[in-house]
Amino acid sequence: MQIIRTLDELNENLKSVWENDNELLAYVPTMGALHSGHISLVKKAQEIAQKTIVSIFVNPLQFSPSEDFSNYPRTYEEDIVKLLATGADFLYYPDFDQAYIESIQKVKASEELSACLCGASRPGHFDGVCTIVNHFFELIKPDFAVFGEKDYQQLKILEDMLLRQQSIIELVPGKIFREESGLAMSSRNNYLSDEEKLLAANIYRLLSEEKKSFEDSSLESNSEMIDGTLMNIRKKLMQLGFDVDYVDFKWSRIFVAVKVGSTRLIDNIEINV
Ligand code: PAF
Repeated sequence: MQIIRTLDELNENLKSVWENDNELLAYVPTMGALHSGHISLVKKAQEIAQKTIVSIFVNPLQFSPSEDFSNYPRTYEEDIVKLLATGADFLYYPDFDQAYIESIQKVKASEELSACLCGASRPGHFDGVCTIVNHFFELIKPDFAVFGEKDYQQLKILEDMLLRQQSIIELVPGKIFREESGLAMSSRNNYLSDEEKLLAANIYRLLSEEKKSFEDSSLESNSEMIDGTLMNIRKKLMQLGFDVDYVDFKWSRIFVAVKVGSTRLIDNIEINV
């Protein structure tokens, strides 16, 4: 795996891939602290393209001043070992400074798509995501980009960004990867104590139980049932001691965001409506 730090190195390494019509390039953007969920995205990238590039960059633009940018887990040495084992072709690990980041072209997320869920709780977050992802897309010029469905709203917003830009980059979703307990894998799980991890496993347990009872029942109208399901999930999460940010329904999925201690966790599950 070629480790790339500078723009010149990036251009040198990718030139032959860009010029070779028989080599498609799949890109997996990450903020590092890699876990098996990220690795599954790299595997997906390898299935769809001849060459794979992963980036690691903790993007300051998507954190508000009160969020965990400076504490965000940075585990570069371990990340490299995990990536080497995947056989990914390139790792782009830029050290953009503040001035560079401020100079890149700003891209706004769709107001409609970012008005709800995490966009409502984290103003400006998705603008920061769109800006950095757009910039990486311009530098890397991939054919495919792979994003996990845990950040489903991010996926929809980026899909919309590419559509508006009439981009030829194809966005490929990767399934949520879970711990054995059901807890959705996230770099932020690194913040949780063992006890908090046990508690956090209830999020998926509740989502799965409520999905099942929703799908098994056909008594009421769908919209009433969805409201009831959301209320049940919220109530049960609160009873377990979670600080609930939202429980909501969109895109045929139930979305949950909670805080466990000071750690914000999100998850979602698809529902057959
Ligand atoms: O999903 C993430 O880890 C980040 O939002 C991304 C897409 C790498 C942009 O910084």
